[in-house]
Amino acid sequence: MSSIPRPRRLRANPTMRAMVAETSWRPEQLVLPAFVGEGFTEPRPISSMPGVVQHTLDTLAQTAAEAAAAGLGGIMLFGLPEEKDAEGSGATDPEGILNVAIARVRQEVGDDCLVMTDVCLDEFTDHGHCGVLTESGVVDNDATVERYQEMAVQHAEAGAHVVAPSGMMDGQVRAIRAALDTAGHDSVTLMAYAAKYASAFYGPFREAVASSLQGDRRTYQQDPANLREAAREIELDLAEGADVIMVKPALGYLDVVRMAREMCDVPIAAYNVSGEYAMVEAAAAQGWIDRDRAMAETVTSIRRAGADIILTYWALELAQQRMN
Ligand code: PBG
Repeated sequence: MSSIPRPRRLRANPTMRAMVAETSWRPEQLVLPAFVGEGFTEPRPISSMPGVVQHTLDTLAQTAAEAAAAGLGGIMLFGLPEEKDAEGSGATDPEGILNVAIARVRQEVGDDCLVMTDVCLDEFTDHGHCGVLTESGVVDNDATVERYQEMAVQHAEAGAHVVAPSGMMDGQVRAIRAALDTAGHDSVTLMAYAAKYASAFYGPFREAVASSLQGDRRTYQQDPANLREAAREIELDLAEGADVIMVKPALGYLDVVRMAREMCDVPIAAYNVSGEYAMVEAAAAQGWIDRDRAMAETVTSIRRAGADIILTYWALELAQQRMN
């Protein structure tokens, strides 16, 4: 027996395991998604995302300050408007909740934590789609892209460091880049949700942004069955000028993260989405899994697949654990 290979030697104790660990993460690589409600005077819990709230402007600013203090790379902002309509008018109201929140957070954190925004209409439309609709009820690609251009420029003006178009419209990256540059915002970074799937795992997010989607998003988000299609979307977004490529969701799509990593040299982001968060929280609340270990394992696995940047609702907690 003495001559067999013994890989277990390298797992013998925590010091040995730490020495040979191949994957690690830093707080700077994590981004906290955060929700803010227009007119809210108290934060409101989101029942399907225990521990996550819809912030007031004040509690959002406070959270952003904590994120900066914990060394997080960024905070990704989502706004809930008081009024929704077919065009998502609130998205391009300079006094609308998202624009106001961007300015407030930027003022709070300066350059210590990157202010990121989701450029998409679904939080703002009464039908819940990511764009404006044609008369026959399909999402109108080019009219929607024009709305995104206006949104992105306003976000930049309000102080966003990074804009992240998430609507999966054709040509959105090129159009937004051009609009930003024309408006003098050529230093604003464009993080493209390049490979974004029509996923059941966004379920709790709908509650978080009070969206009642009519129909589904399968005419613009990708079919979970497809990998080559993701390669094509990534190539197009790179050609259109994306600085960072995002894959979403993360856990069921780690092969897509790996492919993205191997395809290109730009940073790769992955979004550990609301449903992935909710599954762990629900099972942990039942005592079925160890919450802290599941959180750490999730982030480590997404890093191992090749992501440089991870958006996760656990970002602040994970970074704060590191500080203690
Ligand atoms: C679009 C957007 C969504 C998410 C992030 N940006 C919803 C969707 O595309 O259906 C989902 C994030 C999550 O589930 O955590 N604005």
